[in-house]
Amino acid sequence: MCGIVGAVSTRNIVPILVQGLQRLEYRGYDSCGVSVHSAGLGAPTGALRRARGISRVADLAAQCEAEGLQGLTGIAHTRWATHGAPAVANAHPHFSMGPHADDGAERPGRVTLVHNGIIENHEALRAELLARGYHFSSQTDTETIVHLIDSLYDGDLLMAVQTAVRRLRGSYSIAVMHRDEPQRLIGAREGSPLVLGIGADGKENFLASDAMALAGVTDQIVYLEEGDLIDVQLGKYWVLDRAGQRAERPVRTVQAMSGAADLGPYRHYMQKEIFEQPRAVADTLEGVLAVVPQLFEAAGTPAPGEDAQTTFQAVRQVLILACGTSYYAGCVARYWLEDIAGIPTQVEIASEYRYRASVPDPATLVVTISQSGETADTLAALRHAQRLGMRHTLTVCNVPTSAMVRECRLAFLTRAGVEIGVASTKAFTTQLVGLFLLALMLAKTRARLGPAQEAEQLDALRRLPGALQAVLALEPQLIDWAEQFTAKEHALFLGRGLHYPIAQEGALKLKEITYIHAEAYAAGELKHGPLALVTSAMPVVTVAPNDALLEKLKSNMQEVRARGGVLYALADADTHIESSDGLYVIRMPGRSGLLSPILHVVPLQLLAYHTAVARGTDVDKPRNLAKSVTVE
Ligand code: M6R
Repeated sequence: MCGIVGAVSTRNIVPILVQGLQRLEYRGYDSCGVSVHSAGLGAPTGALRRARGISRVADLAAQCEAEGLQGLTGIAHTRWATHGAPAVANAHPHFSMGPHADDGAERPGRVTLVHNGIIENHEALRAELLARGYHFSSQTDTETIVHLIDSLYDGDLLMAVQTAVRRLRGSYSIAVMHRDEPQRLIGAREGSPLVLGIGADGKENFLASDAMALAGVTDQIVYLEEGDLIDVQLGKYWVLDRAGQRAERPVRTVQAMSGAADLGPYRHYMQKEIFEQPRAVADTLEGVLAVVPQLFEAAGTPAPGEDAQTTFQAVRQVLILACGTSYYAGCVARYWLEDIAGIPTQVEIASEYRYRASVPDPATLVVTISQSGETADTLAALRHAQRLGMRHTLTVCNVPTSAMVRECRLAFLTRAGVEIGVASTKAFTTQLVGLFLLALMLAKTRARLGPAQEAEQLDALRRLPGALQAVLALEPQLIDWAEQFTAKEHALFLGRGLHYPIAQEGALKLKEITYIHAEAYAAGELKHGPLALVTSAMPVVTVAPNDALLEKLKSNMQEVRARGGVLYALADADTHIESSDGLYVIRMPGRSGLLSPILHVVPLQLLAYHTAVARGTDVDKPRNLAKSVTVE
């Protein structure tokens, strides 16, 4: 999704801006651009200059070089189109184009701006600004902001931005620069992240939508809060809160993230991240169970927070809110929470939840699940639940500094490490680990988990990294399956019980990176409609662990075979299903009971990955998708 980088420095900042954009490329984008203030590097009077393109950031770098674009202050952007197609005219940075010249001619380029988010009242603002003589050259909602700031400018960019943002409805993080104020950037955020990076020399300062953009430049990061404005200059900065008061925001040292970008022996980040799952799961477990091997008793602040036990005692139901892969993790967790902890659980797609008239119960534990912790739909759903009076909130999240963690009272931090591939893999399995622990903790609080059962379940969890390693060894068999999927255009995924959401996640993985149309069904639903789709051209992937529903599932598989459908079954070592004509079986190395979804999803990730490689798609940056969906 969109990314912002900005810098005020004593050296040419174009290479830093370009590198920052490259670090954000994994999030997905369709155009990019940079604008600089040219004062200070040989140019006597400053002017704003820019380069924009609809190709890769590497091409933008070449364009900057060719055009001699240099500056001590600048802003840059990767755009993921919302309003207006991917086109140079719609790419950021935008310039103001207003009726300000003394001779009455249009006066371009006083203000330049980059924006993440969506301005909902852009049509009304556009009409107003057009009437006042502003010239629009794009279809974007963003262009209204740059003209609005220009129209309010009276010698102080901070004041103009402060007045302008009060008129904006929607979500934004912005970085703005003015021709008459070299060496000054103004940033603002509402509903979309923005951070300040403090340079090592005490002079340079940076803005970015994600601290990762500044990796290698600085690890000293200030996270802005909702409604904040920031004035960034050489060697100094200050923050104003929503009320316009000076505010202190802590400077945090963030971990170096450079290792995440190193592919090692892998072809793609997705493959690397699939193979990182044993370590990611081990790290996540260590975060919760370090030192003392019992729930709630890890060293230091116990996960998921000081008042977890009090909260767990106070609630009588769970409401899970999430999107995409994180939503499927929530669907698995519902089975665990109801089965192990005996607590009624609902799972809602975050983007739907806040638009329906639900019946709130203050004694609800609201659980958000999010890899990024910045997904706009999930954040909005959380805030909606809070407004409805539900104050017991917990997030299962992979980014400790994210808005989700800051806004929830309790947090299970997964330790998957940075996930770069758009298709979520290690984030999902670590979320499942966090959610399983949550189920155990709730069960323990509600006296449904005796010491022997607790020890047994924790033991099973500790064996997971080894079990995952064994599943990864199945990769050659999945490559064989992938060869058979390469020319397909449709696929069905079946599962039952705990494994129905795993079938859904398998279908999502396949469709998002291979562009093969894939649907998942609870296997018992097959005969109620989707069976009509089954022909010999339709591969049917079946998640078939040896659990209580296996015999029922076998009947569903027979229904497929009887119609000529070709089955691909993931069975446990002791599941009595043998490969035969039209039935391909891969046997999982062991049997893992309630934790089985965490293992069964891995072959489905590998199947999607190798099918995508064989089809030649852009595995890590699938078309139209973004890593972190920060707009509604
Ligand atoms: O960062 P989040 O977990 O909140 O993201 C939610 C979804 O956007 C994400 O899981 C998406 O579905 C992935 N591309 C799936 O692979």
